[in-house]
Amino acid sequence: MNSRIEVSDLSKEFILHLQGSLQLPVLSGVNMQVDAGECVVIHAPSGAGKSTLLRCLYANYRASSGRINIRHGDHWVDLASASPHEVHAVRRSTLGFVTQFLRVIPRVPTLDLVAEPLIAKGMDARDALEEARSWLSRLRVPPRLWHVPPATFSGGEQQRVNIARTMISDYPVLLLDEPTASLDEANRDTVIGLINAARERGAAIVGIFHDEYVRRSLATRLFSITPVQPVSLVGTP
Ligand SMILES: Nc1ncnc2c1ncn2[C@@H]1O[C@H](COP(=O)(O)OP(=O)(O)O)[C@@H](O)[C@H]1O
Ligand SMILES: [Mg+2]
Repeated sequence: MNSRIEVSDLSKEFILHLQGSLQLPVLSGVNMQVDAGECVVIHAPSGAGKSTLLRCLYANYRASSGRINIRHGDHWVDLASASPHEVHAVRRSTLGFVTQFLRVIPRVPTLDLVAEPLIAKGMDARDALEEARSWLSRLRVPPRLWHVPPATFSGGEQQRVNIARTMISDYPVLLLDEPTASLDEANRDTVIGLINAARERGAAIVGIFHDEYVRRSLATRLFSITPVQPVSLVGTP
């Protein structure tokens, strides 16, 4: 698999319009390359910008400057400057993101939610639903819940639906924001196995894992981000 993501000189600052356009710099000069078969763990204190970095890599947040080059099929796309159409194409077949919380689509049953990314890629609906059943079983989501929308599920159940919905697709590049945070030990170990299997088949993975055990089980390398110095309030005593 030709998986690779290269971040060069990435910076991100938020402009807080409700606070008189106050500028809040979060990331500055971030350089990172992740290759096929790597699981790079972003390691930094709370508030340092780990989730912001992943959201920039998924183009949820627009980078303030820099480049995020991702191998997409036989060419490269810079997600920091890509059009919404290109971002959509990269997300459909190349880049998967397990967010910390499932964004529930109201009224869509769990099984359809998990099968949807395969159907979007052109798989026959019946085959996609069969795959979805297999992933939900592997992640121990009980069959009685498969026809229920996940809005009322527990945190851990929603997290497993979220993982199934992303991991079903064999994306070449995976972003993982605390995918095991609300799981019990058995499910945590299942998810560790699934992530390691994805890496062994050649995925390039960037993840955030607070749990030391999970980090040790998954990381091939740690990546630190240095918190940007807060803007000093010049002139205040
Ligand atoms: N959408 C946003 N608007 C304004 N500030 C934000 C936004 N998202 C994150 N931040 C700020 O960026 C900083 C880093 O946040 P985050 O990336 O969530 O940190 P981490 O994941 O490392 O704990 C925090 O100070 C947070 O308040
Ligand atoms: Mg975070």
